[in-house]
Amino acid sequence: MRTALVAGNWKMNGDSAFINELMSSLTTAAGSSNIDVLVCPPAVYLSQVKEFTQSCSIALGAQNVSEHPNGAFTGEISLAMLNDLGCEYVILGHSERRSLYGETDTVVADKFIAAVDAGLKPILCVGETLEERESGATIDIVSRQLKAVIDSAGIDKFSDAVVAYEPVWAIGTGKTATAEQAQEVHAAIRAILAESDSVIAAKIRILYGGSVNAANAAELFANEDVDGGLVGGASLKANDFIAICHAAGA
Ligand code: 13P
Repeated sequence: MRTALVAGNWKMNGDSAFINELMSSLTTAAGSSNIDVLVCPPAVYLSQVKEFTQSCSIALGAQNVSEHPNGAFTGEISLAMLNDLGCEYVILGHSERRSLYGETDTVVADKFIAAVDAGLKPILCVGETLEERESGATIDIVSRQLKAVIDSAGIDKFSDAVVAYEPVWAIGTGKTATAEQAQEVHAAIRAILAESDSVIAAKIRILYGGSVNAANAAELFANEDVDGGLVGGASLKANDFIAICHAAGA
């Protein structure tokens, strides 16, 4: 039985006052949850958010990290720094990182390996564009993105990892994959992992991301291979995020 995980990816949003308000609401609601809840604030606010997460069950994660251990990499943040700040998870290979900042499968794999070696749990994002879906290439794309990491890192490095299926066309658009579309891709992801290790494939959590909200979460999470969500916009609204967490725990 996999424990559901709901992760909030705040992206580049919020300020100190907003975060105090949001985290106050989330920590009040956090108590009796039967799921894992995670927030991934902008890196500059990790310390501020840790003040809240250290006294409740909400986990702390980062949105990105450098693949390099330290040194002359202006503007980058290292895994040691994330560990120092109490991060447990790190999102890797988000489609915005891939498309806007040129992160290749190789870079994502390097980051994945470095994250696992540093003791962080990677959330590996995969997903197709609208054009790729319409041309029938969805499974091929997701398979390529996933296998690039499996081949480079080795399947054993997935034992504490999370995979997030985020169709690019569903991110921030208000268009959600249908429950059937999500389940089909999630099952394919689990099958690809099972080709290398059926035990890891059975226990790994596969999150759905892309316009998850309080109204559609329950239907998405009801699917056998959907183990929670990676939530963008709705994670910035306390009531919506709490409702999504409740849907995952139901
Ligand atoms: P939205 O929930 O805003 O569509 O964003 C999804 C996402 O990219 C989470 O990583």
